[in-house]
Amino acid sequence: MSPESHADLRGAVALAHSYLLERVRPGDRVVDATCGNGNDTLLLARLVGETGRVSAFDIQEEALRATAQLLDEAGCRQQVELIATGHERLAELVAEPLKAVVFNLGYLPGGDKGCVTRPDTTVTALEAACQLIVPGGCLLVALYPGHPGGAEECAAVEGWGAALPPHLFNVWLHRQLNRPDTAPYLLQAEKRTRPRSA
Ligand SMILES: C[S@@+](CC[C@H](N)C(=O)[O-])C[C@H]1O[C@@H](n2cnc3c(N)ncnc32)[C@H](O)[C@@H]1O
Repeated sequence: MSPESHADLRGAVALAHSYLLERVRPGDRVVDATCGNGNDTLLLARLVGETGRVSAFDIQEEALRATAQLLDEAGCRQQVELIATGHERLAELVAEPLKAVVFNLGYLPGGDKGCVTRPDTTVTALEAACQLIVPGGCLLVALYPGHPGGAEECAAVEGWGAALPPHLFNVWLHRQLNRPDTAPYLLQAEKRTRPRSA
């Protein structure tokens, strides 16, 4: 196998994608809680295929438009439901068991830096996602401590993850030790397949 066939695991998003590639299968039901420019939604749409379903949330029209265009260009629009509201309404709007839920926090790259995800709504959505995830499924949260309010949101998400019961979830924090403290990092919460052994 040539070195080019492996992903360059620089940053939280690349690591999240490598995990999704390994786990998400055709026919799976998944959520992108922050579709933004649509890169995560597109990967999920390709992985679940026409028999699967992606629900993708965003509060900005600009983000939903960009995502729709990316999906159209890739021929993957039909398996994606774009939801123009906050992910804090996840519990109301999604009822099916989920293989993966992806959060890419912070602001829309190239967009309004004042429109950021917030600790309270993010944690509400994470709580809802936890209820829907199947054993072996996971939540992936790309965290951005560098912008105003980012560190507070990271602390809230870390607090939420640390409180998940260890007999039900394996919770990991992935940071690049050779990058600054402000670099994005990844929280991964995987629902255990053998929940009884603590
Ligand atoms: C870092 S961007 C997402 C990047 C995206 N996943 C991609 O691949 O391009 C964060 C997004 O979260 C959105 N957002 C902020 N608050 C939100 C909320 N409560 N619910 C859903 N999306 C929200 C912003 O509008 C922004 O588009």
